[in-house]
This record gives sequence, structure tokens and C-alpha cells, in this order.
Amino acid sequence: MALKCHNIFALLLLVVNLSLHGNAADQNNRLAASFIFGDSLVDAGNNNYLSTLSKANVPPNGIDFKASGGNPTGRFTNGRTISDVVGEELGQPNYALPYLAPNTTGKAILNGVNYASGGGGILNATGSLFVNRLGMDIQIDYFNITRKQIDKLLGESEAREYIMQKSLFSIIVGSNDFLNNYLLPFVSTGVRVSQDPDAFVGDMINHFRIQLYRLFQLDARKFVISNVAPIGCIPYQRIINELNDDDCVDLANNLATQYNARLKDLVNELNDNLPGGTFVLANVYDLVSELIINYHKYGFTTASKACCGIGSGGQVAGLIPCVPTSSLCSDRDKHVFWDQYHPSEAANIILAKKLIDGDKRYISPMNLRQLWDL
Ligand SMILES: *[C@@H]1O[C@H](CO)[C@@H](O)[C@H](O)[C@H]1NC(C)=O
Ligand SMILES: *[C@@H]1O[C@H](CO)[C@@H](O)[C@H](O)[C@H]1NC(C)=O
Ligand SMILES: *[C@@H]1O[C@H](CO)[C@@H](O)[C@H](O)[C@H]1NC(C)=O
Repeated sequence: MALKCHNIFALLLLVVNLSLHGNAADQNNRLAASFIFGDSLVDAGNNNYLSTLSKANVPPNGIDFKASGGNPTGRFTNGRTISDVVGEELGQPNYALPYLAPNTTGKAILNGVNYASGGGGILNATGSLFVNRLGMDIQIDYFNITRKQIDKLLGESEAREYIMQKSLFSIIVGSNDFLNNYLLPFVSTGVRVSQDPDAFVGDMINHFRIQLYRLFQLDARKFVISNVAPIGCIPYQRIINELNDDDCVDLANNLATQYNARLKDLVNELNDNLPGGTFVLANVYDLVSELIINYHKYGFTTASKACCGIGSGGQVAGLIPCVPTSSLCSDRDKHVFWDQYHPSEAANIILAKKLIDGDKRYISPMNLRQLWDL
């Protein structure tokens, strides 16, 4: 009898001990920092500080962004970006601040930093028609600067652990390499004339590999890398090619598909060759296709017409897609697209949630919650 009591007591102690330990682990596992790289899909205001044609710091952009009271922030959408939603869902206390914002200094950088820039791409020449933008090479140079600041704030060894264990590295890039480079040969260097799609995609992949190795050298370990969306289906492409509502531009979609196949191989290669690193592929192509095809199932009324800036489009109108003089729809959460290029907040929320808890069709080899719990 005494023995039995003793056992129960021990068991109780064990249970208490386990649950305390569990709580501590939860605390430790909270997303501490989010480092975001890429283009206008996740730019949170860097382009506000550049002289560039690619800007979103005018109304009605941001009209549904609660943290700014509906004022524009430089985000190319009506509310939160995919990365904003992912950060919130994984328990990040604040949104990652844009690298170029003057108040992105001191302890604020411990939330993470956003380097993404509208018009930016993997290749340095991408987006030159906007005059200015941050390409991936420069974004990583900037992270290298942040990395040293974190050493100063935390000390070298804690900083290393912070970056390796508690930081998520999100990269959404590639669309502009097609839309604002390869498919616009007359403004860039005429690559399309001289390079077949295979060679161009090969160039992109080789550059991207180097960029990801550099981040790994700087202690990044948990990566989520997005493939390129069905860019042939964005309203801009439908308008300039004068397509019907349900049609998409094959050339643009084929380029994206070709790149995405090579990207998948690259991600597998990095998981094999960089031990300790976890590279997760976000299949944004299939996710966005699903939203476009089955839009009514997700509560949208259109996947072909942009909410802001409906019009005849064209080269120049397409550069600055949503401005105060644009027409604005009244049911913003019923549109898949906010402007001619970018998803609405309603679409971003669906996309983010699928990346966090979705299955291997959309996020592999694991979803973001599993990546987080590693
Ligand atoms: C930095 O400035 C931006 C824009 O003025 C503001 O939205 C943000 O809250 C500020 N962040 C901090 C940490 O002060
Ligand atoms: C990339 O472009 C920037 C200017 O935007 C230039 O300073 C830099 O040297 C270029 N890098 C490469 C590798 O060409
Ligand atoms: C980071 O910057 C230092 C110079 O401060 C340079 O030596 C190093 O190569 C850079 N690292 C990467 C990965 O770019």
C-alpha cells in the first residue's frame, strides 16, 4: 500500500514535471524573428525609401491594414501580406520592419527584418524599368549588416542560436524575373532575344543557389521558399494580352512551371547538401491556381478582375497599379486580386493558412508549423 502511494506520488511529480517542461518548450519555440526576402508580394515598405516607380505608399493601398489605421504602409495590397499573416499565426509579437525604415534599429530588429522590395528579383537586372528596387544580392548584403547588429545586441553565441533556432527565413521571389525582365526584352538587355527559356531559368536557379548558400553561411537554417505563382493568370497579363476572363497566358505560365520544376530540384539538393538546414518549398503556384479556379468555393466573386485600378492597363498604367484615382471595388474581400498583380488580403489569409497547416501538396516536406516546432 505504501509502495503504491509512493508510486502515485512519483507519477504526479512526473506529470507536473512534464507539463512544466512542455510549457517551457512552448515558450522557447515561439517565433522570435522573421526575416523576409523577395518582391512586392511581401514588401512591407522598403520601396517608400527608394526613388522608384514601384511604390504602394498611396491610398487606397493599406485601406484594410489595421496596424496603420487603414493608411498606406508600402504594402502592395489592401491589408496584410502572406508574411504578416504567417508571423501572426506563429506567435510573432510584431511585424518585421522594413530594413530601410529609419526606426529599424536597436532591439526592434530582434523581431526580424523585412528586405523585400517591389520590382526586385533573383537576377540583378530584374526590375530595372522601375529605376530602383532591391534585388536579392543586395537584400542579402543588407541581412549581413543586420547579422552583425544582432551579434552586438545578443553576443555572438546567443545571436547564432537566435538565428539558427528561433528565426524563420521566408523568400518569395522570381515573378519579376519573368514579368519585369524576360518578358520585357526591350527594357532590359534583350535576354529573351538571345536566351532560350531553359538557359534563362538555369541562370535564375544558379544565382538563387548562391544566394541561399550565402544565407546559410550567415546561420539561416529554417527556410521557406516560394515558387512562382501562375503569373499568366494575373489581371495585368490578361489585360495586355486581351484575354477572356477564364483564359491565362500560356507563355508566362509555362515559364513559371519550368522554373518551379528546377526550384523543386534545388530545394531537394539543398536539403541533402546542407546538413542542419531545412528548406521547405511553398507551392504557391498550385495554391493560387486553386483559388483562381475554385474562387467561388472560397467565398470570392471574381478571380479575374482586380479590386483596385480596373482599367485598360497597358505598359505604363501597369507599373503603378493602384493609385488614388483608380476605381475601387466595394467588396474587397470578394476579390482574389487587389490590383493587377497582387492578391487581396482575403486571398493572402487563405494562402498563409494553407502554408502553416496545409498538406504536402502545398507545402513540403513539412508545413510551417512543423518547421517551427523542429
Ligand atoms: C516605425 O515607423 C513606422 C512608420 O512610421 C511605424 O509604423 C512603426 O510602428 C514604427 N516601429 C517602431 C518599432 O517604432
Ligand atoms: C547589381 O546592381 C547594383 C546596382 O543596382 C550594382 O551596384 C551591383 O554591382 C550589381 N551586382 C552585380 C553582381 O552585378
Ligand atoms: C558578410 O560581410 C563580410 C564583410 O563585413 C564579408 O567578409 C562576408 O563575406 C559577407 N558574408 C556573406 C555571406 O555575404
